Amino acid sequence: MEIRYLDAHATGWNFKTVILFGFEGESLPETVPALAEEAGWIKDSPALKDFTGKAKETVVLYAPAGSLLRRIIVVGLGKRDRFDLEGLRFSTATAIQRCKALKAESCAVNMENLSRLGEPMSVMAEEIVCAASLSLYSYDEFKTRTEDDDFAIEELTLFSADEDAAREIQAGAERGQAAAKGVIKTRDLGNGPANHVTPTFLARTAQDMGKRYGFKVRVLERKDVLKLGMGAFEAVFKGAQEDPKFIVMEHAPKGTETDRPIVFVGKGITFDTGGISIKPSAKMHEMKCDMCGAGAIFGLFEALGHSDIKRRIVGVMPCTDNMPDGNATRPGDIVRTLSGKTVEIINTDAEGRLILCDALTWAQQEYDTEAVIDLATLTGACVVALGTEVAGVFCDDEALRDQIRDTGKRVGDKFWPLPLWDLYFEPLKSDVSDMMNVGDRMGGASNAAVFLKQFIEENTRWAHLDIAGPADGMKKNPIHMGGASGFAVRTLIEIARNGIEE
Ligand code: BES
Ligand code: ZN
Ligand code: ZN
Repeated sequence: MEIRYLDAHATGWNFKTVILFGFEGESLPETVPALAEEAGWIKDSPALKDFTGKAKETVVLYAPAGSLLRRIIVVGLGKRDRFDLEGLRFSTATAIQRCKALKAESCAVNMENLSRLGEPMSVMAEEIVCAASLSLYSYDEFKTRTEDDDFAIEELTLFSADEDAAREIQAGAERGQAAAKGVIKTRDLGNGPANHVTPTFLARTAQDMGKRYGFKVRVLERKDVLKLGMGAFEAVFKGAQEDPKFIVMEHAPKGTETDRPIVFVGKGITFDTGGISIKPSAKMHEMKCDMCGAGAIFGLFEALGHSDIKRRIVGVMPCTDNMPDGNATRPGDIVRTLSGKTVEIINTDAEGRLILCDALTWAQQEYDTEAVIDLATLTGACVVALGTEVAGVFCDDEALRDQIRDTGKRVGDKFWPLPLWDLYFEPLKSDVSDMMNVGDRMGGASNAAVFLKQFIEENTRWAHLDIAGPADGMKKNPIHMGGASGFAVRTLIEIARNGIEE
């Protein structure tokens, strides 16, 4: 979809399909003065009389024969004083889906009556463009094409009669496009089945992106990982036929090469059977999404490739299947992690924390980090606690925790804090090693988080994000058709753009 910006002051409304936002309890001809000139017929349009302006309500108004403007899709934003960006995203997406149903190849969004809502025009444009792209996403890599698939909305124009707004709109729209590309990358990887999205596939994806966008990419192979002494990561990949890959991507634009990087660490379990502690077969197929932590980092880097963000960012992604096998780790096995600490593996299905603990240690040994943020579809317990729409944030650093929650809220990723207190380490104490990988079922999300905390050095600013619920369990909404959601990508982009708050 091509995005354009137009100053309608100079050109008038030369479009076939226009999307107009309407507010509940307000008259459209009054809030959009240009309508009198461009579409005077609208005030007599019978369908408009039924339009109440409630959020996501749409109505299509057809122009009289002979005018270039063929139709106006009016979409409700609800009450003006309750306006928020989530509402703008959902209403935009609903209108765009209506365009698609009407097979409108191009459509134009009137931005004029979005001023004075307390958000800059650039932000509105970013949200509109991003929501429009995401509303059209579906995963059809393995579907036989039908005639319907040949239709696409080719062009989206944002226009305003306010000349100053045009520049802002353009900047925002570019950010929105980059963000959508990132989210879509993560969705594609998460929806991809495990026989295609293997660790080798992910490593190749990283290398391709490195070439395309100029990232530094390193892939540590099985032998490298063994030599380094990542005994916990090894315990997980031992049972797998697919080769593990420890993928590192680095974005370091000129002048930032020696800065302290923000390091993101993502769980890349390409399929989680549970290992010898095997999962029940019902719903096991959902575990192709167990690489969505790593997937979110791929999405971030895709967006970085389409942005102009001057900050050093590193992504660390340990990737492997978790399989049962004659060579797989047994419950009760004890391994030595890269940090030197030993772990008794009570349950081989608690594998995410095993690959992450070595990746966290490696990241802190390798870099003088500004902050470390890990993302993982880590525990079913987190889904029980918060549901499928909300991720847990575990972080003792108040500024960082608030930044993640507040940033997420603006871009549509819902995070809520859960405790990281040392009392959650009690059940992990082992008689025969430094710790066990699981303890009590109760408080499972915090137990997992506190396990990871054992591998964080005193002076490292760190947050752990448990995205097991929203990464692929989110309910459908106008910008998400089901399956992998691309959760957290937009939050990571904002953190990369703005840096970590003091
Ligand atoms: N990948 C799962 C967690 C998960 C559950 C992700 C549901 C997405 C949706 C993880 O590896 C796992 O199996 N965790 C166990 C931990 C338990 C054995 C302590 C769980 O949550 O049951
Ligand atoms: Zn598991
Ligand atoms: Zn898992």
